[in-house]
Amino acid sequence: MLKTRIAVFVSGGGTNLQALINSQNSGMLSSGEIVLVVSNNKNAYALTRAAENNIPSVVVTKKECGSMEAFEAKLLEILEENNIELIVLAGFMSILSGNFTSKYKKRIINVHPSLIPSFCGKGYYGLKVHEEALKYGVKLTGATVHFVNEIPDGGEIIFQKSVGVRPDDTPEILQERVMRQAEWILLPRAVQAVANEIARLGDEYEEKNSYFWEKI
Ligand code: GAR
Repeated sequence: MLKTRIAVFVSGGGTNLQALINSQNSGMLSSGEIVLVVSNNKNAYALTRAAENNIPSVVVTKKECGSMEAFEAKLLEILEENNIELIVLAGFMSILSGNFTSKYKKRIINVHPSLIPSFCGKGYYGLKVHEEALKYGVKLTGATVHFVNEIPDGGEIIFQKSVGVRPDDTPEILQERVMRQAEWILLPRAVQAVANEIARLGDEYEEKNSYFWEKI
């Protein structure tokens, strides 16, 4: 079976990209291959991680493109050139429009550092999510991996995992625990599950893909 061609979109440190690279190197990501890393930030450490693992990368910024439309058009061009079949948003801090997401239906997945529908949507990203969770006083938080559609953090949920909040948590400490106990585990599992469906079903993926459910 041919491997699903994966592009990983990043903006920052890239620890989730690293978790995916590790899963590829260990053989766990058996149905897919990360063929490209796309960053909207030229200083992202994720780019170093890609280079260290001989994965080609490209930087595309909204600023250099001049508009959101031109930015997304450039992204689409790159995805087509590289025959990308699955896009993974791994700490990608830009919201993609419905025009973009409709071109890759059920082929874009995102990891979000809370239990959706809590602490999600526009304005909830990175450390901000954990600041808000602590401010609210929730005792449980976690991470969600979901398909991406036109609603920010609103697509179908693939996997979720809860993580306990401790009384002395800071946003940074909580972020680390959510990554370690949830994100770095869930994201590689979800990517393998979806990559396997795409590889298995080929052109019939859109109509026949099954509902992804797994107890973790
Ligand atoms: C991760 O916690 C990811 O879930 C979050 O940003 C962090 C990126 O870290 N993403 C979002 O908040 C998207 N809404 P990383 O660059 O080390 O993977």
